Amino acid sequence: MKWNNWIRQFHRWVSIAFTATVIANFVAMGMGEPPSWVVYAPLLPLFLLLFTGLYMFVLPYATKWRSARSVSGKA
Ligand code: HEM
Repeated sequence: MKWNNWIRQFHRWVSIAFTATVIANFVAMGMGEPPSWVVYAPLLPLFLLLFTGLYMFVLPYATKWRSARSVSGKA
């Protein structure tokens, strides 16, 4: 339970970092051609969001599969 909560908090804070990098892109584009490290900066937080997000998505289903398996295991 504690582990899942940590993942959720991590997802929440990385989403703020991701949003900041996207805003930085718009600001940098307003000042001309942005350097490539600014252009690619959102990719790392986006990947972290993708994996933690997919993990959170699967969680409720995984709980169901596990409980279903333990019930059939008893029979
Ligand atoms: C890249 C693919 C992403 C996937 C697969 C994903 C998936 C998810 C899932 C499954 C949840 C939990 C929903 C629930 O059952 O309560 C969630 C929560 C959330 N996501 Fe994402 N997400 C992604 C990207 C993002 C992005 C780009 C942002 C914002 C910039 C974001 C911000 C949030 C926030 C703020 C929450 C709520 C966290 C909390 O409850 O504390 N996510 N996401």
